[in-house]
Amino acid sequence: MQEKIVVLGSNGQIGTELVTTLRKIYGDDHVVACDIRRPDYDIKNSAPFEFVNVLDKEMINGIFHKYRPTQVYLLAALLSATGEQNPKLAWDLNMNGLLNVLDLALEYKTAKVYWPSSIAVFGPNSPKDNTSQYCIMDPNTVYGISKLAGERWCEYYNQKYGLDVRSIRYPGLISWKAAPGGGTTDYAIHIFHDALKKGSYQSFLSAETELPMMYMDDAIRGTIELMDAPADQISVRSSYNFAGVSFTPEVLAAEIRKHIPDFTLSYAANDPRQQIANSWPRSIDDNYAAKDWGWKPEFDLSKLTIDMLNNLKK
Ligand code: SER
Repeated sequence: MQEKIVVLGSNGQIGTELVTTLRKIYGDDHVVACDIRRPDYDIKNSAPFEFVNVLDKEMINGIFHKYRPTQVYLLAALLSATGEQNPKLAWDLNMNGLLNVLDLALEYKTAKVYWPSSIAVFGPNSPKDNTSQYCIMDPNTVYGISKLAGERWCEYYNQKYGLDVRSIRYPGLISWKAAPGGGTTDYAIHIFHDALKKGSYQSFLSAETELPMMYMDDAIRGTIELMDAPADQISVRSSYNFAGVSFTPEVLAAEIRKHIPDFTLSYAANDPRQQIANSWPRSIDDNYAAKDWGWKPEFDLSKLTIDMLNNLKK
């Protein structure tokens, strides 16, 4: 079958790299990039691009009608930190954007839908270490609440209507191509930029705040592996736990110092993102992803640090 893939929210941190990779696999004309903003990365050099607001159902309907996609990736969202600044907008965008796409995917018989969830679905009473797929989930950010509700809707559309919707709970994603989108884990990207530019960085998370993270190359590969897996192997229709590497700002700084010996790290007190980080797991058990579709990360802390520094230096 000839794939036609629509990526909604193509210009964000994930979309920028996902579109590029999908276009390498399927060809430029088979991957339609859609965003509310004009693209300023590789995406714009290769067709096609459409302006889309995922809250405008008529507008997305037009995209489904024009392209009849076989696969849709919905990446448009407000993240954890920006979501707290505008809770109602975060809920509206994250929830109604998803429901609009699920409904249109049913109507147009889209073969597969992808929607990202997050470690933000966990909360203060979830286990912190090696957090399992099924455990107490009491998210206390509007982002986490919207992602947990979204997971329930994805499973619901799969079970009630047979829609093939697939999802991953991303950890903090580390990348150099596009800027991160207002999350609690963004420090792990800013630190590399500042280490190279200024030789120092002030972290908004405390020295011992350990969080699950992943290099973007792994995240993109894992996402496409999940989408390529046979449907009968997907036993989790809410969203898969997905792990790469866990570390603290202090440990990341020590790794950076192996390449930039004089790098110094200081800490800002009372940043609201600390509270969010404190409510999230330190590490994730992703055995369902490993068992169902063979997930295995390739980038450890040392490898991702080298890759980040090399690419940002260019
Ligand atoms: N990186 C995201 C955030 O911090 C987690 O999903 O919001």
